Amino acid sequence: MHKTRIDLPEDSRRQLAELLNGRLADAIDLRLAAKHAHWNVKGPHFMSLHEFFDRLAAALDAPIDEIAERITAIGGTAGGTAATVARRTSLEPYPADIVSGTDHVEALARTVAAFGRDVRQAIGQSGQLGDEGTADLFTGLSQEVDKQLWLLEAHQQAAN
Ligand SMILES: [Fe+2]
Repeated sequence: MHKTRIDLPEDSRRQLAELLNGRLADAIDLRLAAKHAHWNVKGPHFMSLHEFFDRLAAALDAPIDEIAERITAIGGTAGGTAATVARRTSLEPYPADIVSGTDHVEALARTVAAFGRDVRQAIGQSGQLGDEGTADLFTGLSQEVDKQLWLLEAHQQAAN
């Protein structure tokens, strides 16, 4: 951990940085999955899904930067290399060979739901480590992830 005047014990900062780095890797992994879907989706609703998946990826840009810079603000190192992300992500590998819009919506919904669960858990974990600032960051992100899951699931739900 780097030196800082922040009034959080080093051990708490280390655990917070580890928690934040885990969710950072997940967010980058999810963003890449959304881009992969944006590039490779085919089928009857191509254009709308192509654009929708790109907006999902874009919605993660600001949160990714916020998580990374929270890590550095508390004296940690933000893991942004491909190798680090691949090692730290907790998400299931995104299926590389699917093509149809339905399959991509389902795969992304599964991935976003798993990410959303871990982000929600991170709110309480940050609070327990005495860092309401990080808890607040995760609270905002949790709302955004829930919204993205709604947008994905709305593609799958008929009127009932
Ligand atoms: Fe594009």
